[in-house]
Amino acid sequence: MNFVVVKATVIFLILALTVVEPKPVPDARKKRSNTEKLINSLASQDLVTNLPGQPAVDFRHYAGYVPVNETNGRALFYWFYEAATNPDLKPLVLWLNGGPGCSSVGYGATQEIGPFIVETDGHGLRFNNYSWNKEANMLFLESPVGVGFSYSNTTTDYDNLGDAFTANDAYAFLHKWFLKFPSYRTRTFYIAGESYAGKYVPELAELINDKNTDPSLHIDLKGVLLGNPETSDAEDWRGIVDYAWSHAVISDETHKVISENCDFDGDTWSNKICAQAVDEVLKQYKEIDIYSLYTSVCIGDTASSNDGSMQMPRIMGGYDPCLDDYSRKFYNRADVQKALHVSNGPQLKNWSICSTKIFHEWVDSKPSVLPIYKKLIAAGMRIWVYSGDTDGRVPVLSTRYSISALGLPITKAWTPWYHQKQVSGWFQEYKGLTFATFRGAGHAVPCFKPSNSLALFTSFLLGESLPSAR
Ligand SMILES: *[C@@H]1O[C@H](CO)[C@@H](O)[C@H](O)[C@H]1NC(C)=O
Ligand SMILES: *[C@@H]1O[C@H](CO)[C@@H](O)[C@H](O)[C@H]1NC(C)=O
Ligand SMILES: *[C@@H]1O[C@H](CO)[C@@H](O)[C@H](O)[C@H]1NC(C)=O
Ligand SMILES: *[C@@H]1O[C@H](CO)[C@@H](O)[C@H](O)[C@H]1NC(C)=O
Repeated sequence: MNFVVVKATVIFLILALTVVEPKPVPDARKKRSNTEKLINSLASQDLVTNLPGQPAVDFRHYAGYVPVNETNGRALFYWFYEAATNPDLKPLVLWLNGGPGCSSVGYGATQEIGPFIVETDGHGLRFNNYSWNKEANMLFLESPVGVGFSYSNTTTDYDNLGDAFTANDAYAFLHKWFLKFPSYRTRTFYIAGESYAGKYVPELAELINDKNTDPSLHIDLKGVLLGNPETSDAEDWRGIVDYAWSHAVISDETHKVISENCDFDGDTWSNKICAQAVDEVLKQYKEIDIYSLYTSVCIGDTASSNDGSMQMPRIMGGYDPCLDDYSRKFYNRADVQKALHVSNGPQLKNWSICSTKIFHEWVDSKPSVLPIYKKLIAAGMRIWVYSGDTDGRVPVLSTRYSISALGLPITKAWTPWYHQKQVSGWFQEYKGLTFATFRGAGHAVPCFKPSNSLALFTSFLLGESLPSAR
């Protein structure tokens, strides 16, 4: 019940477009960094050399499977981009998208922060000048099994997917991945993610922190970065409702009914009056893009996609709501799956950006990860939380309610942060946590504000305050 909002939009975004034949561009592997000698043969099997439509770049990238459980035959798919310059000197960052059931390759890597963004014309990829691999070695993981290309050979595994399962497999993945990439085994490490990864990221960080008591398993995790993160169900719901009201999506009357009848800390949905009023919120959000209140929705449907009659989407603020569909076309191509070491024959994997089955059948979701925040803060980790302030799904109010519930002392009062001489948003620093907003950005912030997002990422890695002067 608590994920209904996502459900509607996921279905809405599964659309189709015509694919134009690709022109493969060979990967330009001109410069060889001095990590070369450290990359063993296991990694070299995963080197991506002929991704169709890929712009030429100077850094190497790798993709493939890492088995995480031999007994049941589970393997997770990753895509790893070395930092564009000096990869040896830069940290390693794992990026996770949410859902649950959505792909970090389809969203993070190819719509948000990777170096190659899926093109809207179906030809291939365009170079992203604001890729986060300018500052770090970026690892994208499709997690858990059933998401994107990741799979299990034991179908009953799919009945057990939840937060704990996801964290355990992601943890196993990291150690197996380090065997392929030993030069990263002791590297400074961060975990970043958005949306439902607001649960995954702290949960994995906690697991790493716990296991780190064994020196042989130690991973040098230094902090986490969270974007519009689902954090605490009660605070998240309060924020959704108050934000919808304060942004003129629902009426005063609906908001009043919810205020008077919904106990988000208790058994919320057993109250019929509350449930109906919340349904009214969702009904209004189905009309617009809940993830980006002020941009247009993706118009089109699968049936009409091949006859050219599809109404073209309007593209505003660098955000194309139809990108999900371009990704689906791209990742289901045989040549693409071959280049990414997913499939080598006639048996293609059926890639989709989100799995609605996983979303509906999720067996365990922590109601709140705020206790984990406290634990990570006590362990001295850097925690940064940012929020695009035009997102209605995990709105800035939800995040503020959650942070407020932590009751942390303020160390730097609310102030604007600047990028290219403009107010990019506001931020406030607490003992153990930094909170920043992005003015005019939706749920997937880097889609809307790529340059600003890279600036925030850079500050995060340096552990420096955001620029508070124009
Ligand atoms: C493999 O997965 C199964 C089911 O999730 C679990 O019971 C088993 O302990 C796992 N094996 C290893 C070696 O982790
Ligand atoms: C899953 O099964 C296929 C077919 O038997 C096999 O090739 C593959 O290695 C298995 N995957 C894992 C992770 O064991
Ligand atoms: C790429 O970004 C850099 C700053 O990171 C900027 O100096 C350069 O002009 C940008 N190039 C393009 C083609 O936008
Ligand atoms: C691929 O998966 C989608 C949804 O996950 C489904 O609708 C479609 O029928 C599948 N296609 C094939 C060829 O199995």
